[in-house]
Amino acid sequence: MLGNFSYCNPTKLYFGDGSLSYLDTELPKYGKNVVLIYGGGSIKKNGIYDDVMKILERNGKNVAEISGVMPNPTLPKLYEGVETVRRHQADLLLAVGGGSVCDYAKAVAVSVNCKEDPWEKYYLRFEEPDCEVVPVGCVLTMVGTGSEMNAGAVITNPDTKQKIGKVFADERVMPRFSILNPKYTLTLPHYQMVSGIYDIFNHICEQYFSGEDDNTSDYISEGLMRSLLHSSRIANRDPQDYEARSNIMWAATWALNTLVAKGKTTDWMVHMLGQAVGAYSNATHGMTLAAVSLPYYRHIMPYGLQKFKRFAVNVFDVDPAGKSDEQVAQEGLDAMEAWMRELGLVMNISELGATEDMLEGLADSTLVMAGGYKALSRQEIIDIFKESL
Ligand code: NZQ
Ligand code: ZN
Repeated sequence: MLGNFSYCNPTKLYFGDGSLSYLDTELPKYGKNVVLIYGGGSIKKNGIYDDVMKILERNGKNVAEISGVMPNPTLPKLYEGVETVRRHQADLLLAVGGGSVCDYAKAVAVSVNCKEDPWEKYYLRFEEPDCEVVPVGCVLTMVGTGSEMNAGAVITNPDTKQKIGKVFADERVMPRFSILNPKYTLTLPHYQMVSGIYDIFNHICEQYFSGEDDNTSDYISEGLMRSLLHSSRIANRDPQDYEARSNIMWAATWALNTLVAKGKTTDWMVHMLGQAVGAYSNATHGMTLAAVSLPYYRHIMPYGLQKFKRFAVNVFDVDPAGKSDEQVAQEGLDAMEAWMRELGLVMNISELGATEDMLEGLADSTLVMAGGYKALSRQEIIDIFKESL
């Protein structure tokens, strides 16, 4: 491991069936005014809303609500939420939902006391908050993003067709606590479950496929990927398998709580390509990643051949005996493709609404990252999108 880094993750986690009861432990730490933030209503159907409200009432909280946070939360919704939180003078934002709700709560948290326009400050100039940040707590209901234990907050500007993920360096943006009950994820539709599973897998890949030094982070990543492959196959066959869903939930948190990025330059190019697709199509995040992944990885494989070979052997158990490095690496990606097809992931962007005439616009919306094995040119980006159609 050759990199220099600091590591601090201040989010307190409560994990397991029954973990919601720890809301009683957390709520007394904050003032009276709570804004409850949630999505389009799944928490009302599965009863989580009622359970959370009971605990808020029991703790004497004065509750306002922001509902209707959409998947891929938008900038107009951010502005609306900031107004609600200002009016309510919130002491705590309680996000109950998936990555969209949790991300959104963080974006609101850094914007409430911000004197400038948050889109320009955080998402275009990538600055850090220099104001008070409202504390965020999270009750997670959808697994994949890792938002429950990181400082990421992705916002989409529908006017400019930009979907931008700001990862704050400021630890105050991380949830103060997150409650992770795997049972809550059992009501997710299969499409969302597998989309989340691929999101987790790709988060690990984005960090793994960078650097050439011998790095402990890569060994942790391989373990997480193996665990995820194992549990995902069980969950795909039987989505009600608590043990598998529980392992998937825990893997998701560790895939993107900054641990496996330590000492790594990290790639994130699949996310940049996928986010461009998301900005154009509003498609489900994990599916946008699945649809661009294989053309991207097959394209960069020659530039990071040894790592792709290691991935094939250590993650997908490809037998390297008597084969060239290229052959082993290719077999690894073939095994990954077979697993993705087994889960029923979306494998091309046309299924998500992308068309040939969007290619230039998609390339305009793609940020180029330089931490992986190859910084892509504009032409390479267009070629990868074309391959993904
Ligand atoms: O809105 P409701 O009605 O709650 O329905 C949601 C939503 O339609 C539904 N859902 C959630 N929990 C459920 C449930 N349905 C039934 N039962 C449950 N228990 O699932 C749908 C998707 O939810 P969403 O929160 O959008 O999914 P996800 O967790 O994948 O979050 C996606 C957002 O996170 C961003 C993505 O870009 C996207 O905007 N990301 C955040 C990251 C971070 N903070 O680090 C990193 C990721 O790479 C990602 O970019
Ligand atoms: Zn992701």
